[in-house]
Amino acid sequence: MSVDVFRADVLKGKVAIITGGSSGINKAIAMRYAALGARVVIVARDQAKLEQAAGELNAAYAGSCFAVSADVRDGAAMDAAAASGAQHFGRYDIVVAGAAGNFLGPAEKLSSNAFAAVVDIDLKGTFHTFRACHALLNPRAHLIAISAPQATVPMALQAHACAAKAGVEALVRTLAIEWGGLEGARVNALSPGLVAGTVGAAIFCKASGEAALVGAQPVPRLATLREVADAAVFLACPLSDYMTGHTLALDGGLTLVNASGAAIAAAARIALQR
Ligand code: COA
Repeated sequence: MSVDVFRADVLKGKVAIITGGSSGINKAIAMRYAALGARVVIVARDQAKLEQAAGELNAAYAGSCFAVSADVRDGAAMDAAAASGAQHFGRYDIVVAGAAGNFLGPAEKLSSNAFAAVVDIDLKGTFHTFRACHALLNPRAHLIAISAPQATVPMALQAHACAAKAGVEALVRTLAIEWGGLEGARVNALSPGLVAGTVGAAIFCKASGEAALVGAQPVPRLATLREVADAAVFLACPLSDYMTGHTLALDGGLTLVNASGAAIAAAARIALQR
């Protein structure tokens, strides 16, 4: 059961841009921001999925969404997408760098291209998103990178994702310093663990089973999309104005016990018979 703890107008008049906003966590964030009064620019690669999500957002909250197709790996395309969104709704108060890609793969079998695919989407994509929006930000803008427990928890079959997300959190801390100031940007990361209804959780649950994954967590269940979206509201509103360079873990305590790391490692050993 979800509880409304935010005022219904907490994001009224705010403009947000959300990469990866056509699906999963990022779409849930877009919906929640729109519900709380924001106008949202969603950016994603797949035109059909993008139009579907924009249609749903505008049906639920008329005029709330503007969609632009771009691949976050392409810096110039991201610059154009950010400019086009700002032209439509105005300068940005909130930037969510959420586009991500992942798969399970043994390190010794990852091609350069496979390793680069995830690093380029997650790490370079976050950099491209923030850089593209920098000149288009309102004062005291809230920048949020979607990270993952892999940034600090080593996980077998996740060399590419661990490296990419560690980079994302280092980038967040760096930009918090570089772009800070009383009227400057707040730059934080949100690190959800396993979230029900996402491709990410499906990949892990298929490999190890949900019970093995979440059973050892202090909060032994998957997160809901609503919980993640509400954490993203906190990071986007004045409640978090004094927080910067921080990673907010919303992971049921996964990072305390390395539960998924151990479960994935066990599954990997069985799968690879070693
Ligand atoms: N296992 C192993 N290697 C994979 C792979 C997988 N599941 N998916 C992609 N790769 C490799 C490809 O083989 C290729 O390497 P190669 O050129 O040496 O063969 C390289 O990664 C790029 O693949 P490509 O399909 O061209 O990349 P893409 O940019 O279209 O897609 C992902 C990359 C990560 C988005 C893709 O794996 C994917 O669709 N994942 C599932 C969706 C997802 O990640 N959702 C978000 C979860 S957080």
